Amino acid sequence: MGVLPANEYTHGLYPYPARLLRHIPRFLLATDAIVDGVDLVFDPFVGSGTVLLEAQLRGIASIGVEQNPVAALVSRVKVRAEEVGDAETRLDEVLAAAKRCRRPTIPSTALGRWYAPQALSALGRLLTVISEAADLSAADREVAMLCLVLTARRVATTDPRIPVPVRTQRNAAATASDVWEAWGAEATAMVAKLERLPRRRPPAHVWTGDARDLDMWPSPEEARTTLLLSSPPYGAAQKYVRSTSLEAGWLGHAPTGRTVHIEHGNIGREHLSAKDATLTTADVWSPSLRGLLEGIGRKDARRAAIYLTYFVDMQAAFTNARTTGVKRIALVTGTNSVVGSTLHTSQHLAEIVQCLGYQRTLSVRDPIRGRTLLTARRNGTPSPAEHIDVFEVNPDA
Ligand SMILES: C[S@@+](CC[C@H](N)C(=O)[O-])C[C@H]1O[C@@H](n2cnc3c(N)ncnc32)[C@H](O)[C@@H]1O
Repeated sequence: MGVLPANEYTHGLYPYPARLLRHIPRFLLATDAIVDGVDLVFDPFVGSGTVLLEAQLRGIASIGVEQNPVAALVSRVKVRAEEVGDAETRLDEVLAAAKRCRRPTIPSTALGRWYAPQALSALGRLLTVISEAADLSAADREVAMLCLVLTARRVATTDPRIPVPVRTQRNAAATASDVWEAWGAEATAMVAKLERLPRRRPPAHVWTGDARDLDMWPSPEEARTTLLLSSPPYGAAQKYVRSTSLEAGWLGHAPTGRTVHIEHGNIGREHLSAKDATLTTADVWSPSLRGLLEGIGRKDARRAAIYLTYFVDMQAAFTNARTTGVKRIALVTGTNSVVGSTLHTSQHLAEIVQCLGYQRTLSVRDPIRGRTLLTARRNGTPSPAEHIDVFEVNPDA
């Protein structure tokens, strides 16, 4: 497949930390045996929309579900159906109106920590205009919101070396002019990327919600043959929620600055609820996993509880695949190391999917250590191996 350009189409719209390298869905969607008869691609863990954009480029309709509202916004903009048209003029008009506006909207008091007063007020004025402008279409309002959160990232005093906003960087006090300038740069870059989308593209919808919720899944009437193609969340991945907490604040999803309620719906969460704490290893379907979790539990009960909850959540999500008649499933997963034990996520998820009546038709393992090939993770612990597994429903099961 060769090297794909870094900023192809809208792929580079936003640096979501958990995103999938687009080579993988591109390869899978170019494989006849995988797309044969498929009229809908569904990604229940859509993140920043890599799979949906690739489905769009391949000419297949798609639906995605994402629980993190920041990632869901990125996905929606990435695969927007509307023509770009005069979006740049609209964004210029937002900027001009924000300069005149005297009423900043600051959705979270916690945001004040990350901005000099002038910059905070300028961002708040942009938000007032975006929220109130009557002539913005829903799609252009989303583009403007994404532009706002990208601008807000650019001018924040957060230490850029740490992905989660926890520490301020000294000497980084942006002024209102810096905000206007950053907005202009983000708006120009965003419109240029949106203009790269092919003119004719099939519909792609992104729902903000929980993949464990059956209502989020496409009904059997919506597609004859659904291919579920996804890179599911990792076993302990709530850092991805925290890494978008500033953006969640500007979108109104973190009024106190905390993202705990988003983390609670997240598969791979580390703060377990009272209900999660009632789970036991008897709740997982795979006997080998049960034994592994018990072994981890003897060394670190909290880690074992986090991974137990993760797999029980995955069971709930994939049960919806069978209930809604998903025909084919393609999963891209990594391997985790937990207190010295290797958790073969691909194998454990395969067992879950097989318990539901799917049979594995393809298994590819990439043993390359070091810089991970399937996901763009910087500075993180490299995954020792990554996998692509494809399953087909067994009609007799
Ligand atoms: C590995 S990432 C997917 C990345 C995506 N393929 C991309 O390229 O950006 C997994 C995603 O699952 C999402 N997620 C976690 N729990 C979820 C849930 N209960 N329902 C839906 N999405 C969830 C996470 O927020 C994260 O964005």
